[in-house]
Amino acid sequence: MSGAKLFTPVSIGELTLKNRIVIAPMCQYSAEEGSMTDWHLMHLGMLANSGAGFLTIEATAVSPEGRITYGDVGLYSDDNERAMGRTLESVRRWSEMPIGIQLGHAGRKASSEVPWKGGGQISPDKPQGWKTVGASDLPFDPRYDAPRQLDMDGVARLRKAFADAARRAARLDLSAIQIHGAHGYLLHQFLSPLSNKRTDEYGGSLENRMRFPLEIFEEVRNAFPANRPVTMRVSASDWAEGGWNVDETAQFALALEQRGCNAVHVSSGGLVAHQKIDVGPNYQVPFARAIKAATRMPVIAVGLITEFEQAEAIIGTGDADLIAIARAILYDPRWPWHAAAHFGAHVSAADQYLRCQPRQFRSLFETNKG
Ligand SMILES: Cc1cc2nc3c(=O)[nH]c(=O)nc-3n(C[C@H](O)[C@H](O)[C@H](O)COP(=O)(O)O)c2cc1C
Repeated sequence: MSGAKLFTPVSIGELTLKNRIVIAPMCQYSAEEGSMTDWHLMHLGMLANSGAGFLTIEATAVSPEGRITYGDVGLYSDDNERAMGRTLESVRRWSEMPIGIQLGHAGRKASSEVPWKGGGQISPDKPQGWKTVGASDLPFDPRYDAPRQLDMDGVARLRKAFADAARRAARLDLSAIQIHGAHGYLLHQFLSPLSNKRTDEYGGSLENRMRFPLEIFEEVRNAFPANRPVTMRVSASDWAEGGWNVDETAQFALALEQRGCNAVHVSSGGLVAHQKIDVGPNYQVPFARAIKAATRMPVIAVGLITEFEQAEAIIGTGDADLIAIARAILYDPRWPWHAAAHFGAHVSAADQYLRCQPRQFRSLFETNKG
């Protein structure tokens, strides 16, 4: 029997996960008009056979202008919903891993080029580019086209877009929704005093800056079945002078908890081009620890968690309840299998793969067949 906490079950709301390894959302920039393609079937199919406790579908835009790039997945049309439905049907045929989705809007960081073609903004007058919207009319980078500040109609339209996307996610039987409140995208643009210069009820005080993200949370919570979790991803720091910080994040987390949020996923950065991040293993774990001290919700830590003992220590010391991995699981899609083998724990595997179990790890697979 393994003593590893990483492989103990955990509940997020009414959803119970077999282990504490979450696959973080990762944009693939491979959609067409917001609709998933065969790439998503390959990619999600691969990850759904990794033995992780939970799989998060990439940042999915609630409206076309909310996509980071023209290759982003969206959930704003019947075509988008059908394409995602086909992908999910195939993946679920071969995996029981619970699958959730990250819903978001890129705000002023939308209309970008895909990373392997250089990233950066595509100006609105160029093919594949469009005019962006933001909390205020300040661009992410001085070289970018300034966004149009959302007026009251725009704010109302987006509340509805989030709710509509949540209803589509419910119809697709997705197990959970994570709202994207991090990485300098629209909700984070409202939260941070560096990007929110509004003088109306959505700007100024912390209460006002939190208003729109909290409204979005409530819209999504009301539109998604009550027994399925709604969570939020946050950036706990802008890593810039005068920016959004961990104390404000803790207050935001408390406000979310009061509204029925089921977990908070603690990341950081992404708001301004001049951020100065000290990147290294566990670099965001102190933020997770601070949010955990401030709330009762399960907390997910993320960021350069790549080693099995490192992941176990984060859970074991109580800094976080779950860990999320992104790059490490693209590099090694069986990371959870290897972690389970390391700790003498168990993971589920597809019947087709049962014969690969190495002799020295005889009881690696839950079913222990073959
Ligand atoms: C290819 C790629 C795509 C990503 N897309 C998203 C995304 O859609 N939503 C998001 O919140 N973060 C996204 N991220 C950030 C990751 O979820 C994660 O927070 C970050 O990579 C740090 O974790 P890691 O060190 O385990 O990679 C992406 C990262 C990568 C490498």
